Amino acid sequence: MSTEPIRRIDGGKEALRAQIAALGPWFQNIDLCGVPTAPDHFLGDYPSFKFARFVHVLPNDLGGCSVLDIGCNAGFYAIEMKRRGAGRVLGIDSDERYLAQARFVADTLGFDDIEYRKLSVYDVASLGERFDLVIFMGVLYHLRHPLLALDLIRAHVAGELMLFQTMQQGSNDVLLVPEDHPFHVPGTMNPPGYFDNPAYPKLHFIEREFAHDWTNWWAPNAACSQAMLRAAGFAIEANPEPEVYLCRVTPVPYGERGPTAVYPARGRQT
Ligand SMILES: C[S@@+](CC[C@H](N)C(=O)[O-])C[C@H]1O[C@@H](n2cnc3c(N)ncnc32)[C@H](O)[C@@H]1O
Repeated sequence: MSTEPIRRIDGGKEALRAQIAALGPWFQNIDLCGVPTAPDHFLGDYPSFKFARFVHVLPNDLGGCSVLDIGCNAGFYAIEMKRRGAGRVLGIDSDERYLAQARFVADTLGFDDIEYRKLSVYDVASLGERFDLVIFMGVLYHLRHPLLALDLIRAHVAGELMLFQTMQQGSNDVLLVPEDHPFHVPGTMNPPGYFDNPAYPKLHFIEREFAHDWTNWWAPNAACSQAMLRAAGFAIEANPEPEVYLCRVTPVPYGERGPTAVYPARGRQT
């Protein structure tokens, strides 16, 4: 039996197109009963084509598990998780315009039980709840404090799995760094050379605009994405395409030596 709910189109496709236009501009292209929300997206049919490349790492049947979609935008991933049998699905975004799109999409497609809330990733502690699957796609590089966001997710909302994506720049090679870095090249007073290695974990700071977008702040290389995930307490289980990682929560490294994420829950507990 299909899990697809009943779709609603009030007033036909022309009315739908007008509503889509009124809610624009759209970042996610979502098929609303044959009418696309962002047919001229600069990346093509985004995020559908990207999702197709890594969907195989997710369980086909989410069996009622809970999902938190951080930076949910128009709700593409929230809807797809519902289609795979997720139970509670909560989408959060810091931008009310995208949340309006997400609510419209869910309403049009008949997914009545997806909840959307205006909330920054920095405030996830206020949810007071852990989720079986956290989706954190396409947000990290928009943040001024990316490791803080990963720490907060790990400390307060990640229950088991996290699906993560970030823009990456620089080398895709990954240098195996030593357990402890010597201050000098052994036997000399010279600084170690590994920091100049393109495969060393590097987070490139974008002071100005990137692709005409001032909200892009950081672009890690592949080694840095992986190192930051590990440092925040996420083990990488799959890397189905260069920018996408399926992770599982693990103990935070060095946790036994003292407090790790030092950011307590704040805001309203629900
Ligand atoms: C590039 S879009 C990615 C959307 C979607 N996750 C995807 O992968 O297609 C970035 C989204 O993150 C949201 N965002 C940016 N900063 C945020 C923050 N601090 N907390 C929550 N969402 C944020 C933006 O409003 C936007 O919807």
